Amino acid sequence: MGQKRILLIVAGGIAAYKSLELVRLLKRQGLAVRAVMTKSANEFVTPLSMGVMTEDQVYGDMFDLKDEREIGHIQLSRQADLVVICPATANILAKMASGIADDLATTVLLATDKPVLAVPAMNVRMWNHPATQRNLAQLRKDGVTIMAPDEGAMACGEYGPGRLPEPPVIAEHICAMLRHDFDSTLTAGRAPTTKSAAASLSAQPDFADISHRPLYGRHVLVTAGPTHEAIDPVRYIANRSSGKQGFAIAQAAAELGATVTLVAGPVQLETPPGVIRIDVESARDMLAAVENSLPADVAIMVAAVADWRAADVPDQKIKKDGQGVPPLALTENPDILATLGQHAQRPGLLIGFAAETEKVVEHAQAKLGKKGCDWIVANDVSGDVMGGTNNAVHIVTRDGVESWGDAPKEAIARKLMEKIAHALGQG
Ligand code: CTP
Repeated sequence: MGQKRILLIVAGGIAAYKSLELVRLLKRQGLAVRAVMTKSANEFVTPLSMGVMTEDQVYGDMFDLKDEREIGHIQLSRQADLVVICPATANILAKMASGIADDLATTVLLATDKPVLAVPAMNVRMWNHPATQRNLAQLRKDGVTIMAPDEGAMACGEYGPGRLPEPPVIAEHICAMLRHDFDSTLTAGRAPTTKSAAASLSAQPDFADISHRPLYGRHVLVTAGPTHEAIDPVRYIANRSSGKQGFAIAQAAAELGATVTLVAGPVQLETPPGVIRIDVESARDMLAAVENSLPADVAIMVAAVADWRAADVPDQKIKKDGQGVPPLALTENPDILATLGQHAQRPGLLIGFAAETEKVVEHAQAKLGKKGCDWIVANDVSGDVMGGTNNAVHIVTRDGVESWGDAPKEAIARKLMEKIAHALGQG
């Protein structure tokens, strides 16, 4: 796999100067960066300084593209592996949401067939305005990943959400997205193939007060949903997992400021805002996507992975041939959690779930040792937990057991992520 390429679109906001630092960090990771600057971005950063940082030509106006013949806006938009808009102003987000293409940056965004990451930065009132929120919802629907802005004191003197996240956190998010083969995952929702990982940043960037988002700068990896194991081209083995608990955990982690990679089995759920989602089908695809997402500070394996798959999967549908019921030979799937437990890049905090129908805590305690993880979240799945809205869990660690009574899965997710943030804070 060759060098990965970023097309960076810089819009005109006070945070535009931070895009220079972002380019420096991305280059340090061995990525190639090419920049397009909007007209108003030039008021904040000069194309000359951007060109020095990218070591490349900087593109501005469509009509001054001396080489529109050679490169063209279509090509420019397709040569990258990922398009990043940083900072993404309320204006450029509005144009994107309605498909306006009135300069090079917005034309490139309309023409691209590559995944797009928007990193918004704007005044808190502009961020909270219903028009901006409507545009963000539309862009998410269109498949754009939107990073959550930071909260805090702003250049304009107001306080609230809208600040550009720190460049190391943006770079970490970009690297997490690049670890995957987008052509086969984000766009088509099919299983990813393992690709070489982009170099990752060191886990802990070191900057100002981030106490309002205790997982800021951390990478959290979550699996969710069932897996489907093919029997033939039209049939598969599955289970009742809905993915709700895992998705709620991914959302809670993102809300606490983490960069979140969610490896999801086949489920019909919306991707939580800001979360990087990789869709997979089988246990083996899930393992590949999980390994591809490393390193991570925390991994929470919520998925109900099928323990077995068909030993042989014929290319053609199995037909009734009048000879009786066909035999179905099974073989064991890899254990993703146990693989991570022994992995050279084992996450610092590794958490498994246990789906039990009897002796819940006892079985969970046994799994803690067997799988080499730090905590097990045990739930009794004999009722309607799988597919339901509520859950009751026992957090089993080497120090003891904590039991949390019946609550909505979102509440369990928030409590779990708070506990994780607390544990990480304690080192
Ligand atoms: N798990 C996994 N890979 C598998 C099976 C399970 O990563 N092939 C993970 C699950 O995501 C969960 C934990 O292991 O975090 C326990 O899953 P569970 O289904 O409760 O247990 P099993 O290992 O399948 O054991 P058993 O079926 O005997 O209860």
